[in-house]
Amino acid sequence: MNLEIRNVKIATATGISPVTDYVLKYITGNIKISDGKIISISNESSESENVFEGDGMLAIPGFVDPHTHIPFVGDRAKEFLMRAKGAKYSEILKAGGGIHSTVDSVRKASFDDLVTHGLKYARWFLKSGVTAIECKSGYGLDFENEIKQLEAIKRISENIPQKVVSTFLGAHAVPSAGEKAYLTELKHMLDVVKEKDLAKFVDIFCDEGAFSVEGSVKYMNYAKSKGFKIRVHADELSSNGFAGIASDLGATSVDHLAMCSKAEIKKMAQNKTMAVLLPLTSFYLKNAFAPARAMIDEGVPVALGSDFNPGSNTFYSPFLNIHVAVNHLNMTPKEAFVAHTLNAACVIGLEEEIGTVEIGKRADILILDAPDIEYIPYMPTNELVRAVFINGVEVFENRDSFPRQN
Ligand code: NIG
Ligand code: FE
Repeated sequence: MNLEIRNVKIATATGISPVTDYVLKYITGNIKISDGKIISISNESSESENVFEGDGMLAIPGFVDPHTHIPFVGDRAKEFLMRAKGAKYSEILKAGGGIHSTVDSVRKASFDDLVTHGLKYARWFLKSGVTAIECKSGYGLDFENEIKQLEAIKRISENIPQKVVSTFLGAHAVPSAGEKAYLTELKHMLDVVKEKDLAKFVDIFCDEGAFSVEGSVKYMNYAKSKGFKIRVHADELSSNGFAGIASDLGATSVDHLAMCSKAEIKKMAQNKTMAVLLPLTSFYLKNAFAPARAMIDEGVPVALGSDFNPGSNTFYSPFLNIHVAVNHLNMTPKEAFVAHTLNAACVIGLEEEIGTVEIGKRADILILDAPDIEYIPYMPTNELVRAVFINGVEVFENRDSFPRQN
């Protein structure tokens, strides 16, 4: 199928490598698409059967969310209110709330329930311009329920237009059996996950109240030996040095990093490890924001994700995420934009396919009612999304009629 997106102002990074110099291109013209791929960008227009009239609006690559905790069921609204009144994340965790309460809900949920909730959230993401999503297990914490989650991710991905990349986060919290016994169990789970090809990445939550540094290192080495790429949750609540260690272990990304030290930033810069920052979680938990400025100035490639989950953050909009990144992490609008497009695509290994609007890439494109990139953090509403294309197919259109911004 052919399509021409006519008369748009394209804003995009370029290439297939993580950007650390934050150069953006603006091009005005027509985007021609064939078989889901961009085949030309020019001022010439042709006799295409299908034309989308862009009317001078902004065209950008679809947002990529490289860190979510979909699928889950249930809610933790009470916990949110406890926190609003002053309770801490670690206190809630110790009181039997936190991750374990979602584990209870997920264990009780049927496979179909997990899938239908996942589909609902994926639809919310689509309407806010997210065209590729990473999903994780981690609310099962036993063989049956971790596999159930990974199978649910697979089923969800077969029923949504977005691309989905799957991560095994069996090591999300320590169940009552204790760390040592559970890590042994996890290794057996890894064998099955590999056999069934259910995940691209293996992740661990190494922090106060979660897994120890020693246990995490052993487990990550085992995951690597099984041929998995590794990613980690580190420096979210406390700094224990694991971010630097994971970087040295060759982690594809180190995520969270709110409490990241200067020494770890240096290490990540040397190793060119992607930092996945999740400022909506800091915002939601009223915790410290990651030192994004120091990271970028040191040359660490930075990506942004939502961390959407039922406990520590229920925001998912890339628009809001970019607003918080600019307003609270002192990132520039360009840095935040690249962090949620090309750099995020690099995290999940899809940089050759998506992340920029360029010839040869998949036509995952958003049409925004915005004059430029700077407008996104200023007016961070999902209503800016006028149309979403995935693989050159229009999968969402905002048909409300508003006066245009430019
Ligand atoms: O990324 N850090 C660990 N995991 C999540 C929290 C998940 C939850 O509370 O359910 C996070 O913040
Ligand atoms: Fe997370």
